[in-house]
Amino acid sequence: MDSSPLPFFLILAPFLIQASCFHFNFSSFQLDNISQLILSPDSNIALDAIQVTAEARGASLDSMQNQSGRTLYNKRFRLWKGNGNRTIASFNTTFVLNIQNQTSPGGEGLAFIITGNSSVPDNSEGRWLGIVNSDTNGTSEAEIVAVEFDTRMSDDRDLDGNHIGFNINSINSVTPVSLSDFGFNISQGLDLRVLLQYDGENLTVRVNDTLVLSEPVDLSSYLPEEVFIGFSASTGDEVQLNCVKSWWFSGTDIGEDENLWWVWIVIPAVILMMLTVVLVCYLYRRRDTIDDDMEGARGNIEDEINRSGFGPKKFGFKELKQATANFSSKNKLGQGGFGTVYKGSWRNKDIAIKRVSKKSNQGKQEFIAEVTTIGNLNHKNLVKLIGWCYERRELLLVYEYMPNGSLDKFIFCNEKASTVECSTLNWEQRLTIIQGVAQALEYLHNGCQKRVLHRDIKSSNIMLDSDYIAKLGDFGLARTIQEKEKTYYSTVEIAGTPGYMAPETFLISRATIETDVYSFGVLVLEVVCGRKPGNQGEQKNYNNSIVNWLWEFYKNGKITAAVDSRMEADFVETEAERVLVLGLACCHPNPHYRPCMRTVLQVLSGEADPPEVPQERPSFVWPAMPPSFSHMDYSLRGSQLTPFTDLTGR
Ligand SMILES: *[C@@H]1O[C@H](CO)[C@@H](O)[C@H](O)[C@H]1NC(C)=O
Ligand SMILES: *[C@@H]1O[C@H](CO)[C@@H](O)[C@H](O)[C@H]1NC(C)=O
Ligand SMILES: *[C@@H]1O[C@H](CO)[C@@H](O)[C@H](O)[C@H]1NC(C)=O
Ligand SMILES: *[C@@H]1O[C@H](CO)[C@@H](O)[C@H](O)[C@H]1NC(C)=O
Ligand SMILES: *[C@@H]1O[C@H](CO)[C@@H](O)[C@H](O)[C@H]1NC(C)=O
Ligand SMILES: *[C@@H]1O[C@H](CO)[C@@H](O)[C@H](O)[C@H]1NC(C)=O
Ligand SMILES: *[C@@H]1O[C@H](CO)[C@@H](O)[C@H](O)[C@H]1NC(C)=O
Ligand SMILES: *[C@@H]1O[C@H](CO)[C@@H](O)[C@H](O)[C@H]1NC(C)=O
Ligand SMILES: *[C@@H]1O[C@H](CO)[C@@H](O)[C@H](O)[C@H]1NC(C)=O
Ligand SMILES: *[C@@H]1O[C@H](CO)[C@@H](O)[C@H](O)[C@H]1NC(C)=O
Ligand SMILES: *[C@@H]1O[C@H](CO)[C@@H](O)[C@H](O)[C@H]1NC(C)=O
Repeated sequence: MDSSPLPFFLILAPFLIQASCFHFNFSSFQLDNISQLILSPDSNIALDAIQVTAEARGASLDSMQNQSGRTLYNKRFRLWKGNGNRTIASFNTTFVLNIQNQTSPGGEGLAFIITGNSSVPDNSEGRWLGIVNSDTNGTSEAEIVAVEFDTRMSDDRDLDGNHIGFNINSINSVTPVSLSDFGFNISQGLDLRVLLQYDGENLTVRVNDTLVLSEPVDLSSYLPEEVFIGFSASTGDEVQLNCVKSWWFSGTDIGEDENLWWVWIVIPAVILMMLTVVLVCYLYRRRDTIDDDMEGARGNIEDEINRSGFGPKKFGFKELKQATANFSSKNKLGQGGFGTVYKGSWRNKDIAIKRVSKKSNQGKQEFIAEVTTIGNLNHKNLVKLIGWCYERRELLLVYEYMPNGSLDKFIFCNEKASTVECSTLNWEQRLTIIQGVAQALEYLHNGCQKRVLHRDIKSSNIMLDSDYIAKLGDFGLARTIQEKEKTYYSTVEIAGTPGYMAPETFLISRATIETDVYSFGVLVLEVVCGRKPGNQGEQKNYNNSIVNWLWEFYKNGKITAAVDSRMEADFVETEAERVLVLGLACCHPNPHYRPCMRTVLQVLSGEADPPEVPQERPSFVWPAMPPSFSHMDYSLRGSQLTPFTDLTGR
């Protein structure tokens, strides 16, 4: 079939887009909205809002210090056009701000910005509000106009710690106005509904319907024809949450001559008809080319694995097919989220082969994650990856074979699924398993070249070798962190297994060392108690979880009564108590109070006592306060977090 309609459509497409007017309305901010925004590294989306400077997210407040962030709408707005007499666009925008100090006093403030440059300037933290830095302040190079909501009197030129101002290429305002005069306090933590209007001559700002600023300005003399719009904010030593909760914008479109408008109504109609033809044509061709695409994808996978600079063996598909007797169901060991695992025999050695499900697109990412993370690691408590294969659109992973299978089979065996080995794990074996997993995690967090977060610690991902030594496996969700100092991985997807996920996981979009520790804590409790983590599927309900269940035993002073009865009381009581308390400490609702894996190992080996754990399970409070702020009065914030001494050595 002739492919000429496609290029024709592409030529007309830009006209179609220009015909739409510049308008958007975010009634709240969700992770899905990220694609419509440009977020600088210090900005993110959390708690249904833009956090123009990142919030603590389970890390310490230090991580909020000295940040400068920008969040912009990802399309440019045409502000003016013409050479002699310029046509200047007008716009109205409404946004809801919420600024809450996290220290006293709080951070620096937030600004609505219109700028030619989407990148946040270097060294624009602290008093610079992410608007300019000491080099660009006062120069036209900055290309920025801002309405600042300043919450800090950072130098003598500032009016006070609660003002709004209009800034042109500078951190100092043309006309600062104290909001205290109008009875508003920016950093009080209340919502401020700001309406900003520009009619081509005057810029006016209303806060909660009160007119607070009106300033004549010709924006076209400071800004390029096409501009980015959005927000910037900064923190210094003192920090605050700089949230934008909603944002609506509407601007006039001065893109083309007005008398051309009717053409855009006719053309789309014509195009719509052609589009149908093109779509059919495209789909038709796509079917032919899909195999070529897969060849391309194969190149990518190989490239990505090679780039990681190491070499588990690359297997041929035929080799693996032979090893598993054509993936015979007799050799099937299990079925996971991303594929099926088979037992195989290769060079007289037993191997386990995971065949990633062809359909899941997810599978490919998991595959690369797994090969590039564990392929590089070597630890006696990690399942060893022997090789991989990508051929004929099949993704396969080859591991050492674990004769005893996965841990969950041993600890949750009920009558129905009773296997031969059921209930044979004794206290010593359980302790060794916990120690093994702890060692593996400590190695991932602190011991290897790059820090690795596993993100999916659970009993079905722990394999047992012939001596019941635990080996952590399934690195499909694992992520490496390039810089060793960093303790989190930003992610847009919430990943993990319900029941093992720390409560803050649903609020933050970062995997942290602490969320791994939480899952480890749940694992410890289930191994000792022989009980499922509970509330599977009911993601947001923590009340029935094993953690709550055990905390009740602890509160009543008989924690060892929770130990798996199948051990028939054949365990060392003091050891069991120690391990259970450690497990609870790892599951502390406040991530700051969870011990790090190094401390966990010390407790398990008897070198250190378990961290102190409150008798009553603390409520989950967000944002979580780090121990160093425990002298503060929490009652003011409606929190029930009881401060206690931190013994975790972090
Ligand atoms: C933002 O994301 C939410 C959730 O997916 C969606 O409903 C909403 O339409 C998005 N907002 C905009 C302006 O696209
Ligand atoms: C923006 O969207 C929200 C929710 O859909 C709606 O309530 C609000 O009126 C809209 N705002 C404007 C200015 O259209
Ligand atoms: C933040 O910047 C100030 C001034 O440059 C510096 O004294 C302080 O140590 C910095 N704080 C952090 C956590 O980097
Ligand atoms: C620009 O505007 C001035 C005053 O409105 C008018 O006298 C002049 O003719 C205009 N110039 C052009 C090129 O349109
Ligand atoms: C902005 O709002 C005013 C009324 O408050 C209206 O007259 C004007 O047309 C609006 N401008 C745009 C671009 O929506
Ligand atoms: C915010 O500031 C107020 C007054 O300065 C102070 O009482 C409050 O404790 C601060 N909030 C936090 C979380 O530090
Ligand atoms: C935009 O800002 C960045 C960071 O300050 C700077 O490196 C870059 O040169 C600027 N780009 C332009 C076109 O000015
Ligand atoms: C920033 O630039 C303006 C304009 O040149 C100047 O008045 C002001 O003192 C500068 N501010 C700082 C903090 O250097
Ligand atoms: C502004 O108005 C909102 C309701 O629209 C209200 O919740 C908020 O408290 C007001 N802010 C201030 C500072 O009065
Ligand atoms: C605004 O509220 C904050 C926090 O409650 C407080 O620290 C600050 O003193 C208040 N500022 C003014 C000008 O009232
Ligand atoms: C802008 O403000 C000035 C003075 O405040 C006023 O004279 C003028 O009419 C205003 N222009 C528009 C377009 O509203």
